[in-house]
Amino acid sequence: MRKLIAVFMAFAMFFAVTACSPAPTTGETGGDSNTVDVGIVLPTKDEPRWVQDETRFNEALANTDYSVEILFSQGSSAKEKENVDALIAKGIKVLIICPQDGGAAASAVEAARKEGIKVIAYDRLITGTDAVDYYVTFDSIAVGEAQAKYLVDQATGKDNPLYLYAGAASDNNAFLFFEGAWNVLQPKVADGTFVIKNSGEAVALQGNAKLTRDEMSKIIGQVTTNWDFNDAKNRAEANLTAAKAADKGDVFILAPNDGTARAIADAFAADTAVTSYKVTGQDAEKASVQYIIDGKQSMTVFKDVRTLVKDSIDMAVTLLGGKDPQTTGAYNNGKIDVKAKQTEVIVVKSENVKSALVDSGYYPASDFTNLK
Ligand code: BGC
Repeated sequence: MRKLIAVFMAFAMFFAVTACSPAPTTGETGGDSNTVDVGIVLPTKDEPRWVQDETRFNEALANTDYSVEILFSQGSSAKEKENVDALIAKGIKVLIICPQDGGAAASAVEAARKEGIKVIAYDRLITGTDAVDYYVTFDSIAVGEAQAKYLVDQATGKDNPLYLYAGAASDNNAFLFFEGAWNVLQPKVADGTFVIKNSGEAVALQGNAKLTRDEMSKIIGQVTTNWDFNDAKNRAEANLTAAKAADKGDVFILAPNDGTARAIADAFAADTAVTSYKVTGQDAEKASVQYIIDGKQSMTVFKDVRTLVKDSIDMAVTLLGGKDPQTTGAYNNGKIDVKAKQTEVIVVKSENVKSALVDSGYYPASDFTNLK
């Protein structure tokens, strides 16, 4: 109890911004026998999105008096489990974890739960287990809806070619993004504004305003990028090879995030039968912001990671203080309803890059060229 109070005091000091001692550690496990209060596990350093989260955690946690360790799973559920085990061995009280694979992470968080550690799922839900205490997330259905709305707003007339792409099926968010997009696109496929060109499964289901998870799985299985740049590029190229010239022209592309959007955009830009393309994204990655400025990507959905970081730290502080954090809703993970705190998202197009991302202090103007 004493230790708990001490830890809580340390967190309280952080919020008073008076403490001044070592910044949180980041890196691989091992070598450090100090106890760690809060463990943070992120999926991979290979995507700018998660490096951004690490940066924002480090900024938020600088000059604190308590100990936090951030580890990366490098796209491997086995490494993720090792990371969680290592953090458990270091005595963490709270685990903030963004799973590599939402289902596979269940065993890691069950091991944490056995030790009395509170588990906060970060950005991606952990599924099929009751060992998740809380979930901090963006409104992922709104992300997909915003992407689709952008495409709808840009389309005129009938029979516009539509190419659909999705995230990894192991990530619950991929379903939420797709569900949101389908909510907005399906009526516009039904009324003939769009014609889906790269998914027989989606065409077979295009009369359904709502899709079951199994139905979504079928479509996602056909159009997944696995959140991987190369998979996205290969799939787009294969789709373009299979498509007739008449299926190209002025095309509309639902791309699930920025990394895959740039890969898909490059593939479509290289096809001479494509006269113009509109492509969505999400994350406001710097490279995609530059693509938007340069007219190579049409939009992104900005998810202000600073808010997610703050929400998860606030939650950890509350839990360390022995209290129940405030939540705004719940997400069913196939086993239980996980109490959740959800954050809104912002659509960014060339017109508002500066106000949304630079004037807000998220990125310095010097990160970009030709910014207006
Ligand atoms: C996140 C996205 C990210 C994607 C790929 C999703 O779970 O919400 O922001 O782009 O994973 O890492």
